[in-house]
Amino acid sequence: MIQLIESQSHHTKIIFLKNENVKNHEHVKLLEKIDFKGKFGQTMYFPNIDTLFVGIEYKLEVKSSDINAKPNYYTLGAKIVAEFENTKINSLEISAIPIEYQISKIIQQIILGISQRSWQFDKYLSKKSSLKKYYDISFGEGLGDIMTIADSKELFALDKGITLNRMLVEETPEALNPNSIQKILKSEFQHYSNATHEILNFDQLEAIGMEGITAVGRGSRFKPILSHITLKPKNQMSTSKVCLIGKGLTYDSGGMDIKTEGHMRTMKMDMGGSALMAGVMKTLAELGGLEHTEVHWISAYAENMVSDNSYKSDDILTTYSGQTVEIWNTDAEGRLTLADALSYATTFNPKYIVDAATLTGACIRAISEYYTGVMGNDKDLIDDISRAFVEQGELAVHTPLPEILRPSVKGEISDLINTSLPGTNAGHLTAGLFLSHFVDQNNFRGDKYGKIENKAYPWVHLDIAGSSYNSKKNDLQTDGATGHGVKSLVSWLKGLDLQN
Ligand code: BES
Ligand code: ZN
Ligand code: ZN
Repeated sequence: MIQLIESQSHHTKIIFLKNENVKNHEHVKLLEKIDFKGKFGQTMYFPNIDTLFVGIEYKLEVKSSDINAKPNYYTLGAKIVAEFENTKINSLEISAIPIEYQISKIIQQIILGISQRSWQFDKYLSKKSSLKKYYDISFGEGLGDIMTIADSKELFALDKGITLNRMLVEETPEALNPNSIQKILKSEFQHYSNATHEILNFDQLEAIGMEGITAVGRGSRFKPILSHITLKPKNQMSTSKVCLIGKGLTYDSGGMDIKTEGHMRTMKMDMGGSALMAGVMKTLAELGGLEHTEVHWISAYAENMVSDNSYKSDDILTTYSGQTVEIWNTDAEGRLTLADALSYATTFNPKYIVDAATLTGACIRAISEYYTGVMGNDKDLIDDISRAFVEQGELAVHTPLPEILRPSVKGEISDLINTSLPGTNAGHLTAGLFLSHFVDQNNFRGDKYGKIENKAYPWVHLDIAGSSYNSKKNDLQTDGATGHGVKSLVSWLKGLDLQN
């Protein structure tokens, strides 16, 4: 956490340097002695002058093949915290930084990085951790106006959004369940005058035929719900809509196909997709909403449990779209709840649909736990969202939805199956293909399913199984919820809003 303060007497100086700044610096001798060349991310603390030098030299040669060409100032902020982690230092002054293009944004990212790397989930520690949670940050002489008011407002909005995301992911499955989440979201969103919140309860979901959601959640004592929060734009005349969908499994035991040893722990994070969208919505709400775009966030919350009331393999469900799905594995539950949420989203006739989900272990195996897998049915939307990730320094990579694999999610006695046929590789892609059936109203059966237009809605699916949660702490991230994706989606939405 951070607090921006007026410069005061006691503070540790942070001096950002590029290579060219080193030779003119008053401490040039000191810096040369340790061969400090201002390399990006290089840090060196000198206790006698209570100063941390941080290198920000980078090459601007961007190759089109680079996935992350932009230097990442957010992780630079994190490195500063890692440097001071085991010291008493918690008051920092940004004393010098080379002025350059977008300097205000750079500072915003560094401070956000400091704030998020120092945030920890300590609600359940009877003795609060000795690690510092708060950093006071001030600006040295002449640097006071370095951040624009807009960027400074956005800094605090993002900080709140990312913190909410991480808090939700970290909360225990007993405290955060499909019942309690309603109260949690109410207290987070009800005070924004342009936000509305609608909940569909179990009976209502049954009545409108959302069996994808009701089947997955019915084995739990907490019955599933669908939550729909809308954030109106500042300009109320506008009609452009975007739907954000987040997987909201408050716990995934695997169900009857129960997870084996070691695979169940941390499955409280299986609502990471919904938490990501919560973070995005919180940020936007703090900023008063977008200018022209109405943002809808739809998440089904369910707990995948084992009981005599659980759904099971061989069941055939009828989804909201009318398409039927034979269950081959109850642990492939996310795509069933998402299917209904996605089809529901199409009934609002949005310009774009984006979903985020901790959907597959296959995605982690394919692209590592650090990357978000980006898939979709619209090249321009995929490109725009991927670019936002690159610009925000968040790792994401586009993976295809190959038509050649589509037959592997088709059923023999049902329209679809919820896994892929045995022997099929790349489970993240087949999961994505499965989802694609539910944003395409050509597949919907009859008028009763809220059909508006026979078309596939432009849609992107983000598999965040790996990127939303960090299993062990490193210099750049604390362990647990990462907050990954909030900055990128906010940045994409703000860019989109400008075009409207
Ligand atoms: N929630 C899991 C995916 C997951 C795994 C997220 C590890 C984060 C870390 C999902 O519901 C799941 O269990 N998927 C199965 C699908 C399979 C049964 C087709 C998987 O990936 O193994
Ligand atoms: Zn599962
Ligand atoms: Zn799951």
